Amino acid sequence: MAAKTMTTTTANGATIDMGPGTHAVPLSLFRDNRLRVCNALKNIPSIGNDKKAFVLLQGGDSIHLYNTDVEYVFRQEPFFTYFFGVREPGFYGAVNVSTGKATLFAPRLPAEYATWMGTLWTPDDFKARYNVDEVRFVDDLDAFFTEHEASQLLLLKGRNSDSHLVIQPASFDGIDKYNTNDSILYPVAAECRVIKSPAEIEVLRYVAKVSSDAHKVVMKTIKPGMKEYECESHFLHHAYAVGGCRHASYTCICGSGRNGSILHYGHAAAPNDKVINDGEIALFDMGANYFGYAADITCSYPVNGKFTDDQRFIYKAVLAACQAVHNAAKPGVNWVAMHDLANRVLLTKLKEGGLLQGEVDDMMKVGINGIFQPHGLGHFLGLDVHDVGGYLEGHPERPTLQGFTSLRFARDLKAGMYVTIEPGCYFIKHLLDEAFKNPEKSKFLVADKIKRFENFGGVRIEDDVLITETGCENFAIVPRTVEEIEAWMTS
Ligand code: GLY
Ligand code: MN
Ligand code: MN
Repeated sequence: MAAKTMTTTTANGATIDMGPGTHAVPLSLFRDNRLRVCNALKNIPSIGNDKKAFVLLQGGDSIHLYNTDVEYVFRQEPFFTYFFGVREPGFYGAVNVSTGKATLFAPRLPAEYATWMGTLWTPDDFKARYNVDEVRFVDDLDAFFTEHEASQLLLLKGRNSDSHLVIQPASFDGIDKYNTNDSILYPVAAECRVIKSPAEIEVLRYVAKVSSDAHKVVMKTIKPGMKEYECESHFLHHAYAVGGCRHASYTCICGSGRNGSILHYGHAAAPNDKVINDGEIALFDMGANYFGYAADITCSYPVNGKFTDDQRFIYKAVLAACQAVHNAAKPGVNWVAMHDLANRVLLTKLKEGGLLQGEVDDMMKVGINGIFQPHGLGHFLGLDVHDVGGYLEGHPERPTLQGFTSLRFARDLKAGMYVTIEPGCYFIKHLLDEAFKNPEKSKFLVADKIKRFENFGGVRIEDDVLITETGCENFAIVPRTVEEIEAWMTS
């Protein structure tokens, strides 16, 4: 008897989902991804028409907590998801570059797996579940490549330009006897991931909608006196219970008051555990994850639902920067220019409010923008929250100008790219203290005005945006103007 799977076959082909009401991800999404990479690989002279070249990927393994028998909740390695959509640990996958034929290799599990973990899936079950051409066991890898007289195995090895960590290429007993190459695949596959397919766009639209709704739930729920992590838990609950998103794409950042100025607050040493006080502004950066695909949305709003004059002023300054980028972003526009635009709008507004003095051009030259917004305008988003493709060879390198060095990519926009637009304005004590000590910078800063904001925290507005043929489309559907926020929170 075939084991029950979550794969359903509809008029549109086989899909996988998290139950009624959740998005049905077509398995053709992963096949199309594979074919896209194979077609790109065929343009490489050393591959060309080679009928016996294979891509070989190793999926993620389950990781124990230290030496215990408790495991982290498994999350698949994103390239493996991109190629195969496989959710279980311990798999390998091979694709014949010439034909696109895909073979999965499942771990051979002991009989007692059925007692502790549930159904022992057969290769045929997995074949139906993931809609690949063939499924064998991992201990068959060597025999498989020998049978197919593999001429070359293209392995995935590359440095992530955000973490600077290197993904390790697949390895199995016997791999030494094959001709392997670990330099070709990574840049090709990463570049394919930069441009999203129509099916990927629908998954991204879904997870952004679930995340937007979860933010809206938090906005309705928040009250002075609650702890920050209560807001985190409301977000996670909605994303999982309603949207079927088992994971968040990154640790929730739920800063209230001064904590809003800590860009990646919420980690183990600062676990969203402050009590939220009346009169504070919240900066909540949270994104759900659905079948590997990420959302990354930030909402900033007064915790009591009503902006103070100072909060309204800073919020509107950041919103103006955000809107300027929404209006300008389209194919052909350079991302560094968008960062420059957002930062100039912000500094202009801060000058209008009396926090800065002098010419904005001169401020930009000495990096005043980087004091108030030390991070980049945004990043690619996809299977990774900071998605791959940022600084691949052959594309512009990381800018070196002060106030621009945190950018995660510097490329021209293209239709099909999916990016965050996330300008912010923060009052970060050590950065301001340093700037006040530097005469080149301090001349632009109006000390008594800025001092008023020392406990303010920060505002970030983060949207998830698809670059279209003519402009861009925002998938983060949340209250954004001051009026929309106040109306939503108090209705
Ligand atoms: N949530 C991390 C970021 O916005 O990039
Ligand atoms: Mn982001
Ligand atoms: Mn974010």
